[in-house]
Amino acid sequence: MSLGKTHPSEAVSPCAESRSVIDPDTYFDHNQPPSNLEWAHTATQAFLQHQPANQRVVLITSGGTTVPLENNTVRFVDNFSQGTRGSCSAEQFLAMGYAVIFLYREKSLQPFNRHYSDSTKGLLSYLELSPEGEVRVKPEWADRVKGDLRLYQQYVEGGKLLMINFTTLSDYLFLLREVSLLLAHLGPLAMFYLAAAVSDFFIPSHIMSEHKIQSGNGDLTLRMNQVPKFLGPLVKNWAPECFIVSFKLETDPLLLGPKAKYALKKYGHQIVIANMLNTRKFQVWLFTRESDDAFLIQITKEQLDAGRDIEQDLVEELSKRHLQLVENTKLDV
Ligand code: PMT
Repeated sequence: MSLGKTHPSEAVSPCAESRSVIDPDTYFDHNQPPSNLEWAHTATQAFLQHQPANQRVVLITSGGTTVPLENNTVRFVDNFSQGTRGSCSAEQFLAMGYAVIFLYREKSLQPFNRHYSDSTKGLLSYLELSPEGEVRVKPEWADRVKGDLRLYQQYVEGGKLLMINFTTLSDYLFLLREVSLLLAHLGPLAMFYLAAAVSDFFIPSHIMSEHKIQSGNGDLTLRMNQVPKFLGPLVKNWAPECFIVSFKLETDPLLLGPKAKYALKKYGHQIVIANMLNTRKFQVWLFTRESDDAFLIQITKEQLDAGRDIEQDLVEELSKRHLQLVENTKLDV
């Protein structure tokens, strides 16, 4: 990959033999945990202890991970995701009675906040000064803000919504493993909804440039290692009894179905939700191991423009299937 930047020799990436995919466990030995890992562990433990028996819990991952090019990071490669899917789904899962752990990329969209994060509008466009000089919400936004604020407070104060943030790939993977291991004991009551856009390539920190890559030597050529797929250890080792939903994002329609099916076969989890970058807001396909045909969920462009979220239908369908699994597991015992 070339970013069209110049580089010092130390930034030239790993030699050919280090390009093979590393083992997921080795990844954790060679990378730094995030500063909020301990907090996340304690907060998740407390959150789960607070839940009543038989409470269904969902871990939603949302937003894109970054991979730094320097240990003292000035530049990084980002993964596309605004966080709409995750934040909107979190609201729907809460409405359906789930307890939600929301693992999200810092500054990406968050539940109940997502309508006010449009960078083209900014906070000030929702506010105005009253004749007395007081700051107040514009009347046309008041009902929506009141509703979102009420729900947000209700869920956070009621212990139904826990938010944990990440920025880099490494933050994400450490946090995902930590929370997964804590959720595992819930078995089928726990759902994983892996909507985050996770980097596929990275530079291991021990071979990364320590300081800002200097310009002046011509083009910059980067060679990045492949990130091991963490769905494997998640499904097999970290949370083997849980209900796991992964996402598959493609831009080439010919690849979408085959790759979703391949993921199901390879990792053996319950559902892959396939979506295309350009149509993701109004079309998604659910793939399961039980059927060769995908289950299509779609809304019309008109419904989308009128403010309907496809996540409403998606979460309803998933919740139904999740409940089925929980019920079947009870019958098996
Ligand atoms: O946030 P929005 O703007 O609303 O967009 C939503 C979305 C398009 C980002 C979302 O719907 C989506 O598709 N998310 C998954 C994107 C992605 O990473 O797809 P992938 O095909 O690269 O990965 C497939 C699966 O493998 C993912 O569930 C991912 O968690 C997992 N993975 C990926 C890389 C990696 N190293 N290890 C993994 O386990």
